[in-house]
Amino acid sequence: MASVGVAGVGAGVPEVVSPALPTAEATRSWGVRLASLLRPGDLVVLTGGLGAGKTTLTQGIGEGLGIRGPVTSPTFVIARVHPSLVAGPPLVHVDAYRLGGFAELDDLDLDASLEESVTIVEWGHGLAEDLSDDRLEVVLEGEDVRTASVAPHGQRWAATDLTVLADPVEDLSADTVRAEAP
Ligand SMILES: Nc1ncnc2c1ncn2[C@@H]1O[C@H](COP(=O)(O)OP(=O)(O)O)[C@@H](O)[C@H]1O
Ligand SMILES: [Mg+2]
Repeated sequence: MASVGVAGVGAGVPEVVSPALPTAEATRSWGVRLASLLRPGDLVVLTGGLGAGKTTLTQGIGEGLGIRGPVTSPTFVIARVHPSLVAGPPLVHVDAYRLGGFAELDDLDLDASLEESVTIVEWGHGLAEDLSDDRLEVVLEGEDVRTASVAPHGQRWAATDLTVLADPVEDLSADTVRAEAP
């Protein structure tokens, strides 16, 4: 029974489920926390239906990374590069809905290399597997109670403790204050 729910996750690295994310602000706060785990070259694939909160979560990740916003739902834009305001990695925000494959992403000639960026792909499931073996797959689901589940894939994530992502969102600001206290 222990393997139920982690099918497809490599090397026994466990999936982590967020606490309930009752508001868009909670989803953004949780995104800030997720961003603290990210570094240049990382890929995050977001799955969930229209309105599930993929762009909202990306806004939180962008806030956590300290990038220049705003992060919005691109209607005609396939990928947008948000430069860092804090000498960190840029955020490459991709909407793969209209993308035929990841060869097309390489062809976009973005003003940033994916190796140096944090790349977030909405609607990337089924495509992102070709881009990198190392990735976080985040699934946003639920209507009354929204949650995000995070499945790590590849060596990059094999030794990373993701359990912080399961902590209550209400504790986030308290944690930050504690971490910054002398
Ligand atoms: N708990 C929640 N998490 C995320 N978004 C929420 C939540 N509750 C309400 N919303 C709203 O739902 C919408 C989600 O839209 P969006 O993030 O663009 O979804 P997607 O990119 O998955 O299509 C936004 O209008 C957001 O304000
Ligand atoms: Mg979106």
